[in-house]
Amino acid sequence: MPKAIKIICVCGARPNFMKVAPLMRAFKAHGGFDVRIVHTGQHYDEKMSNLFFKELQIPEPDVNLEVGSGSHTMQTAEIMKRFEPVVLDFKPNYVLVVGDVNSTIACGMVAAKLGVKLIHVEAGLRSFDRTMPEEINRILTDAISDLLFVSEPSGVANLKREGISKEKIYFVGNVMIDTLMANLKKAAQSTILDELKLQPRKYGVITMHRPSNVDNSKRFTEIVYAFEQIQKELVLIFPIHPRTRKNLYKTKLGRHISSLKNFHIVDPIGYLDFLKLTSESRLVMTDSGGIQEETTILGVPCITLRENTERPVTITEGTNRLVNLTRQAIVGGFRKIMSNRSVSKAKRPKLWDGKAAERIVKIIAKIGL
Ligand code: UD1
Repeated sequence: MPKAIKIICVCGARPNFMKVAPLMRAFKAHGGFDVRIVHTGQHYDEKMSNLFFKELQIPEPDVNLEVGSGSHTMQTAEIMKRFEPVVLDFKPNYVLVVGDVNSTIACGMVAAKLGVKLIHVEAGLRSFDRTMPEEINRILTDAISDLLFVSEPSGVANLKREGISKEKIYFVGNVMIDTLMANLKKAAQSTILDELKLQPRKYGVITMHRPSNVDNSKRFTEIVYAFEQIQKELVLIFPIHPRTRKNLYKTKLGRHISSLKNFHIVDPIGYLDFLKLTSESRLVMTDSGGIQEETTILGVPCITLRENTERPVTITEGTNRLVNLTRQAIVGGFRKIMSNRSVSKAKRPKLWDGKAAERIVKIIAKIGL
């Protein structure tokens, strides 16, 4: 019998879990792999982590590094220190990392320094904004990866421009969309709309957690003022990230808006409830990366509360648009959508067909040890 290919699959923060889920299923279905899951513990709250493992039926992590929160440097360094012995012990043929969070670059660097081949899933995305911590993580991880799996054509162009040899680059589609497609039916059963007393298409969903929005008090205030205006015309639901909650309640405006009848702040919610909530919504306002992709597939208008996106295909083919981060521009973007003037005919980006993970696993199997 041929030797199994040994892989450590890393995950750490909420947006990683939906990317790892289809990969784990595809490794199992293919056979010939010995895969270990290492959770770094970057996200540790029940609702930011465990819930996703349960809902997406991801096998329990084999190891949890329990690194927790800290400054970016501390967090990255601590993950590296704790991950190295795990790699030395298991001696994998590959370390696989997904996305662009601190866990991605930390574990990627450990693999590269130990001479273990590194696989990056969701490679090549670029916002061209180096003040964004994720952009640094993306550039560095791609620079040291041996196999780069890309979700949209812009990623291939970016990697080539950075001098990455084309033999390492594979355009395979989007694993996040694999998870969305695999869970749509289950999500349809969610009772979240009843629980929150919402009518389909009669509410908007907000998510916001980026330091550039929530740690910058001037910008945060502009955005929250826009929400305050918008909730007069549409009920808004805001499943709130722990960082944002802390900052919101620090301000008078935040405390005021949280008390408004049409503005509902709720704890972070699970994958299935969130999918149901967004798919039935009138529009989404977000600074997340993945939600720009999910709304494109769901055909739900998305206002991205950022000056740039590393996922341009969601604008050229999908339902996404960027707005300036002033209250007028945000409210203007909202009004355009409400009057249907800017609804684009959303296309499904190429290879966002639910089979990206299968493609990735086939390629790794073919390359072998
Ligand atoms: C991280 C990712 C970001 C991703 C986001 C999704 C990086 C650089 N950023 O940002 O790309 O979009 O996850 O959520 O990796 N906290 C808790 N409980 C938790 C996790 C965090 O309370 O389970 C709080 C802590 O106070 C922590 C803060 O949230 O300091 C920020 O967490 P951190 O992991 O540093 O980054 P995120 O902002 O979540």
